[in-house]
Amino acid sequence: MRLRECHNFHDFRLLAKKRLPGPIFNYIDGAADDEVTLRRNTSSFESCDLVPNVLRGVSEIDMSVTVVGQKLATPFYCSPTALQRLFHHQGENAVAAAASSLGTMFGVSSLGTVSLEEIRRKYPGPQVYQFYFHRDRGLNRAMMERAKDAGVNVMMLTVDSITGGNRERDLRTGFSIPFKLNLAGVTQFALKPAWALNYLTHEKFRLPQLDEHVDMSGGAMSIGRYFTEMLDPSMNWDDVAEMVKHWNGQFCLKGIMSVEDAKRAVDIGCTGIVLSNHGGRQLDGSRSAFDQLAEIVDAVGDRIDVMMDGGIQRGTHVLKALSLGAKAVGVGRFYLYPLAAAGQAGVESALLHLRTEIERDMKLMGCTSVSQLSRANLRFR
Ligand code: FNR
Repeated sequence: MRLRECHNFHDFRLLAKKRLPGPIFNYIDGAADDEVTLRRNTSSFESCDLVPNVLRGVSEIDMSVTVVGQKLATPFYCSPTALQRLFHHQGENAVAAAASSLGTMFGVSSLGTVSLEEIRRKYPGPQVYQFYFHRDRGLNRAMMERAKDAGVNVMMLTVDSITGGNRERDLRTGFSIPFKLNLAGVTQFALKPAWALNYLTHEKFRLPQLDEHVDMSGGAMSIGRYFTEMLDPSMNWDDVAEMVKHWNGQFCLKGIMSVEDAKRAVDIGCTGIVLSNHGGRQLDGSRSAFDQLAEIVDAVGDRIDVMMDGGIQRGTHVLKALSLGAKAVGVGRFYLYPLAAAGQAGVESALLHLRTEIERDMKLMGCTSVSQLSRANLRFR
């Protein structure tokens, strides 16, 4: 299978599986415990049907949205994800370039493998800087200062990762950062020589957002250990309120799932929330963001921008979320598989597929702009 034979999420996933060493593919593909939430994230979109209107004159489609003060040419953006140079040597450069060319937002992860400054310098367009709350308060402050200096548009604090999720696939494969060269690792390298050659011949793998703060010279570190050892489980609403005040700009919380928390986010001055269960990678059994969306939009949608992510594989999934009141939706694996499959060309192709699907689906729904989508277009089963 080649890139031009990829027509949807599943095709890109298969191509990624072919290209990547098993532990790395499973790191992207996997989730927590029994992966119930991972599956539910996508299946929940089937809990309702679209009800189209016809004969509305749909030759011009405008799918742009404005969210957290940023104008996006598409109603989807690239959610922040870690370690992208492990998946393809172009890493964040590929995804940021593709997002920029589409006129949408790219989320830089604090666990990213290309520096925030490089991304800001090279790719025009709105960018989010996603970070975690570390035990080292100095580090939290330093990250915000650095983001300010880099001219970041939106800060996004991920609040669902107070401890590492139980990702059993990673335990089984021994996945760690940097990729470990033990016997199993060498075998994986040998099985995927094209990936291995790229990994070994390109710039050394680093976490430039954390460089000075995480010492990886002593060997590999699992993601679970990073969460458990470096993040601060005592983080609370007062801590975040202080950060929001200090940032004094667009500030989102990612990983909000309850109405109560959504209201508190409004109270402390956040400008956006992302309903998310981290792609099913944290609390298995957690509800899907789509299932929680209506309740939260009804409670706070007039006071804060509500976004969601998790499980999006189709243009119709995006339309359903927008119809329920999401201002925009994030995609994760949707661009990670194509990144692994074919670098920037892969990500561009996947994002264009999604844009084309949305455009086609809006026409079929009888909508010329996102603002025309509403709950009148949906029926729950
Ligand atoms: C993630 N996600 C994530 N979130 C975050 O806030 N910081 C991060 O560094 C990462 N890293 C990360 C790595 C990988 C491999 C995945 C799959 C996910 C979660 C991400 O932002 C988003 O919430 C989910 O990916 C959305 O679900 P889908 O679109 O992957 O189903």
